[in-house]
Amino acid sequence: MSIDTQPTGGWPGPRPGSGYDSVTFARLEADARAIIARYPQARSALLPMLHLVQAEDGFVSRDGIGFCAHMLSITPAEVSAVATFYTQYKRRPNGRYTVGVCTNTLCAIMGGDEIFDELSDHLGVGHDETTEDGAITLERVECNAACDYAPVVMVNWEFFDNQTPASATAMVDDLRLGKDVAPSRGALSVCDFKAMSRVLAGFTDGRADEGVGAGAPTVAGTVLAREHGWVAPGTEQPDQGDGATEDTSGAATGDASGAQPTDGAPSTGAEQSSAERPPVGPADTTPEAER
Ligand code: FES
Repeated sequence: MSIDTQPTGGWPGPRPGSGYDSVTFARLEADARAIIARYPQARSALLPMLHLVQAEDGFVSRDGIGFCAHMLSITPAEVSAVATFYTQYKRRPNGRYTVGVCTNTLCAIMGGDEIFDELSDHLGVGHDETTEDGAITLERVECNAACDYAPVVMVNWEFFDNQTPASATAMVDDLRLGKDVAPSRGALSVCDFKAMSRVLAGFTDGRADEGVGAGAPTVAGTVLAREHGWVAPGTEQPDQGDGATEDTSGAATGDASGAQPTDGAPSTGAEQSSAERPPVGPADTTPEAER
């Protein structure tokens, strides 16, 4: 079936399903087809398609909803139902930078609420509102699994760790002035909302390997486990014998990725042999005869 004969859900526009002009439509169509090809069912591509629309329009526009419905052979109502469920999808023009202040439990205790209040006063906007110059959309966000750096502020989903009201205020001022702003980890500078949305749609910007990943607080548990010879219940203790192979699964150190600490923390030599280490997990009290 050609695209021009697919159902449009009754959506008006110069091109099927949307009001995009033919040049824009052709460009988006090529991107959409690349996204859809990743999935066994076309409709499964809706989430990255919505990011693609945000990369084009800066929010999930009426044209974008029609475009998604057309390309995925679903109704605009179905697209809207998804777009209104997730807070990452914006239903009105977003600022160039989404500044999300984590006010979940740990960050709130560590000062997240004060940071949000300070930014709200400084920028003159509340939650999910955008400054008049279109630069900043301020949000309260939920935990971003960066509690070891609380309180955390996200700018277009890049981490700004251990923030204070003063540091966050200085950061948004720099963003509004168009200065390069560097997050604490990851990419070397933040990109704007449209560029970020295109990455979320699955089109790499070539910057995935920039900057540091996990810092010292993130691997602190791994280092402690090595110092004390701790292992997770039910896992094998690394064989520390004479020249024996080292466990690189990561399971024994609690590092699910299997990666070694990025801080290059050396082995402490404190690991114990299986005969020396204390039992881990609940003792097996099952009578021998029942085993
Ligand atoms: S509570 Fe803020 S990152 Fe977890």
